[in-house]
Amino acid sequence: MEQPVQTEVWKAQTLQELIQILHHLFSSDKVSIEEVHALMESYESNPVEWMKYAQFDQYSSIHDHTDSHCFMKILQGNLKETLFEWPGKKGTGAMTKKSERVLGENQCAYINDSIGLHRVENTSHTESAISLHLYSPSFDSCNTFDQRTGHKHKVKMTFYSQFGERTPGVSTS
Ligand SMILES: [Fe+2]
Repeated sequence: MEQPVQTEVWKAQTLQELIQILHHLFSSDKVSIEEVHALMESYESNPVEWMKYAQFDQYSSIHDHTDSHCFMKILQGNLKETLFEWPGKKGTGAMTKKSERVLGENQCAYINDSIGLHRVENTSHTESAISLHLYSPSFDSCNTFDQRTGHKHKVKMTFYSQFGERTPGVSTS
């Protein structure tokens, strides 16, 4: 993604509008990370619009993003994002934490492989958290990392659901 000379300020009133504007922005050869980031944050989360797509899990493994850009917007609750350094080539020893932060409702995080690796978790035992992820380009596998050893493990991405319906015949891995 290269930076265009000028960026527009887009605001999405609804999830539908957010998707439409994203399609518009990504139809161009030049996509601005800042522009997409601002658009993602501009959408004021409305559960009525996204509840049918929500799937629950308490935390992710530490993972990379296969040379893609990743935007993660919080639709509900809070999520803790912990950033890690890439392990050394041999992948031995405990992984180094770079930083951690808590993202609140409507905030949007951005990461790519040059920034590092991350784990995302809901630390609350009473409040659920929901995030919306945008990856560009899309990818079908990534690596997960063992925090104690730094060893990596390639995993295939599958659709758990599509358009709010459970995808049949696919096991999650
Ligand atoms: Fe991620």
